[in-house]
Amino acid sequence: MAFSEGHPSRRAVLAGGAAGLALGLAPRGLRALEAAEVIEARAAQVRLLPGGAPATQVWSYGGSVPAPEIRLPQGARLTRRLVNRLPVETSIHWHGLRLPNAMDGVPGLTQEPVAPGGDFLYDFALRDAGTFWFHSHARSFEQVERGLHGALVVEEAEAPGVDRDMVLVIDDWRLDPESLQISEDFGNLHDLSHGGRLGNIATTNGAADFALEVSRGERLRLRLLNAATARLFELGLKGLEGWIMALDGQPLEAPEPVGETFILAPGQRADLIVDVTAEAGEEAFLIHHLRGTGYAQARFPVRTGTAARRPAPTLLPPNPMPAPQPAAARPARLVMEGGAMRGMAGAMFEGRRMGMRELASRGMFWALNGVAGLGEAPLLSAASGETVRITMENRTAFPHGMHLHGHHMREILPGGRLGPWRDTVLLWPDETREYVFTAEGPGKWAFHCHMLGHAEAGMMGWAEVT
Ligand code: C2O
Ligand code: CU
Repeated sequence: MAFSEGHPSRRAVLAGGAAGLALGLAPRGLRALEAAEVIEARAAQVRLLPGGAPATQVWSYGGSVPAPEIRLPQGARLTRRLVNRLPVETSIHWHGLRLPNAMDGVPGLTQEPVAPGGDFLYDFALRDAGTFWFHSHARSFEQVERGLHGALVVEEAEAPGVDRDMVLVIDDWRLDPESLQISEDFGNLHDLSHGGRLGNIATTNGAADFALEVSRGERLRLRLLNAATARLFELGLKGLEGWIMALDGQPLEAPEPVGETFILAPGQRADLIVDVTAEAGEEAFLIHHLRGTGYAQARFPVRTGTAARRPAPTLLPPNPMPAPQPAAARPARLVMEGGAMRGMAGAMFEGRRMGMRELASRGMFWALNGVAGLGEAPLLSAASGETVRITMENRTAFPHGMHLHGHHMREILPGGRLGPWRDTVLLWPDETREYVFTAEGPGKWAFHCHMLGHAEAGMMGWAEVT
C-alpha cells in the first residue's frame, strides 16, 4: 500500500481519525504475525547415546528432542507459528496452561489438524507462572514418542534466589538395540491393553548419559518433566538436598522436603530447589529407581565449592487460580474401566454398544464412563466459574495419570483439606479419589489418560464448559 503526502487517507492517519485508525492498525497486525517465531515440526537425527553410537531418526520441533525450551515472563503472550514439515497431520497442545479453548491444540475438538505443509498460529497470554510443556496432540502416542515435545517455563516476577535454574526433561525410548532406531511397533495390542509403551533406554534432555558439572553448596532449581508416554518415573536424589516447591507448574503452599523417592507420572512436573551437598570430587545424582535398582538419570560431578547449608528458600508466589467452592460444587464422576486382567462388560464406541471382543478388534481396550474414545457427549458439563467435585474411580488393574486440559484440580483429602493443584493426577488400581476444580473458559476440554497408548485405546473424553 503506497500513498503520497496529501492523500486523504494519509491526512486521516495523521489526524488520528477513524479511517486512519483502521489503516494504522493493519500494518501493525501484519508485523505481529510476521514476527511470530516459528516452531517447525520436522524429521531430525539426534544422538541419544554416547561414544559415537549411531544417531536416531526422530520427529522434532526445531531439530532437537526435547525442543528448544521456551522461557517467557508471566503475563507475556506466547506467539508461535507451528509449521508442519512432517509427512503427517499434527498440532501442539500446551499442557497445563489456562488458555482460550481454541488455542488448546486438540484436533477434532478445538482445531483442525495441521496438514503436512500447513501452519497454525498459537497466540495466548501466559496467566500462570511455572513449569509447563508442549507436545503434539495428533496420534500423540506415536508423535510424542517420536520426539514432538518440549518445556515451557513461565517465570515468576519474583522467584526465590538460586544459582542455576534448569529443566530436566525425563523420557524413555524403545529403540532397536542394534540400529538404535525407534521401534516402529506403535500401538501394538499388548502395549495398548497393558501398561503402555515402555522404553529400553532412559534419557534426560535427550542424553542417556546426561551430566552437569556443579559446585558444592550450589543451589539449583531443577524443573523435572516426565515426557514419557507410559513410564512412571520413581525418582530420588543423592548428594542433593532440598525441597519440592511446585507440582505441575503450581507452587505448593509450603515447600516439602524431598523424601526418599517421589513419582512423576507421564505429563507431570515437579520443581525442586536443591543444594549440592556431595563433596568436591564426588558426584551427585538424580536417581531413577526401577525394580530395586537405582540408575543414574542425571549425574552432577561436583567441583570445588563451599559447604555452607543455606536456609529454606522463600515460597514461590501463588498463581491467580480461581478458588474452588466445594460446598457449592456440581458433582461429577469418572469411571475408568477395561484393560488386561480386568476388562469390562462393554462400552459405547462409534455410537453403539460393543462387547470387549469387538472393541479389541478396533484397537479399543479402555473406557471412561462406559464410552471408548472421544464420544459425542461430554464426560461432564459445567458453567464457567462453577466448582466441580469429581469422583474418579480406577476399576482397572493398571495405574492411570488422568489429565484435564485447561484446568488444575485439588484432591479432597481426609478431613476436607485440599491437596496441591495438579493438572495430571495418578490413580493406582482400585483407587477412588475425589477432586475439585473451577470450570473455566467455555469450550471442549480434553480429559484423558496421559499414558498416551491408553488414551488412543479408549481413555480419551472431554469436559464441556459453557
Ligand atoms: Cu499433555 Cu491431552 O495432553
Ligand atoms: Cu491409563
